Amino acid sequence: MTDRAAATTTWRRLLARTAERLVDRPAARWMCEVAAGCDRIEDVLDERATQPMVAHLDAMLARYDAGEPLAYVLGRWSFRRLDLAVDRRVLIPRPETEVVAGVAIELAAALPRPVTVADLGTGSGAIGLALADELPIDGVAVWITDVDADALALASANLAGIGRRAANVRVARGDWFAALPADTVLDLAVANPPYVADDTADVDAGVVAWEPHAALFAGPDGLSAITRLVADAPAWVRPGGWLVLEIGADQGVAVETLLTDAGYETVEIRPDLAGRDRVAIGRRSAEADGDVGEQ
Ligand SMILES: C[S@@+](CC[C@H](N)C(=O)[O-])C[C@H]1O[C@@H](n2cnc3c(N)ncnc32)[C@H](O)[C@@H]1O
Repeated sequence: MTDRAAATTTWRRLLARTAERLVDRPAARWMCEVAAGCDRIEDVLDERATQPMVAHLDAMLARYDAGEPLAYVLGRWSFRRLDLAVDRRVLIPRPETEVVAGVAIELAAALPRPVTVADLGTGSGAIGLALADELPIDGVAVWITDVDADALALASANLAGIGRRAANVRVARGDWFAALPADTVLDLAVANPPYVADDTADVDAGVVAWEPHAALFAGPDGLSAITRLVADAPAWVRPGGWLVLEIGADQGVAVETLLTDAGYETVEIRPDLAGRDRVAIGRRSAEADGDVGEQ
């Protein structure tokens, strides 16, 4: 677009032009909202776009045309009630993970406070920040951890966006539970770990090309991270506490067996909104022995 055209173009015309160009109509609207720096494009339809705004929109369209996922192009993505910053340092939060977060929130909300929960492998912060956002403000502590310092930097930026409840959140870097201080006792641990088999042909090429591989792949059967979390949780989650894991749609039977063999009770596999196995839940027996908090 020429400078002159940019100076005389309203958001109404830019939105119509962008929508014509994209098959994905919501994408056109969201790109215009990001470029205009507004929450609702309807509020600015008759305003003129500045040249930097038009250049920003054009740059987003070029990235989208090159195959970059919409969430990275926009630089933000919604997750439950949150609007999270996202970029190539982190996995794009998925709708099925909103279900996993919902299960963790429901279980944690039913526990007597004070309650301490951890989201291990937090990426953008999605699950842990949703827990902090939706649980009561009093008597709740939420750990968000990741092994990847770049992911944690983005999660920390998102933490700043959740308002007063950010005071309930602690950030730690490290390998799964080992990120936590040694005396931590959790009421609930939740994770969406990598669970894709290394050589699978089932993953969308766009996902493999753009999203961080360390967030996706987990050994020949995709179960290496889940197996570790199931094995290590009893040293960190108190008797009667919960482990909640996102799993692959074809891993329900295997993860149910892992949890049962490890002595969890109330083992349950729940489906996502599409009816696929997606959430594994294990509750430690209230009578379980253990050295919780003495790692
Ligand atoms: C599938 S992504 C999930 C990200 C985010 N929780 C979500 O649901 O959108 C898995 C995350 O686990 C992290 N991760 C991988 N290996 C890890 C490890 N050994 N310890 C801690 N985090 C790990 C990755 O860096 C990545 O952020």
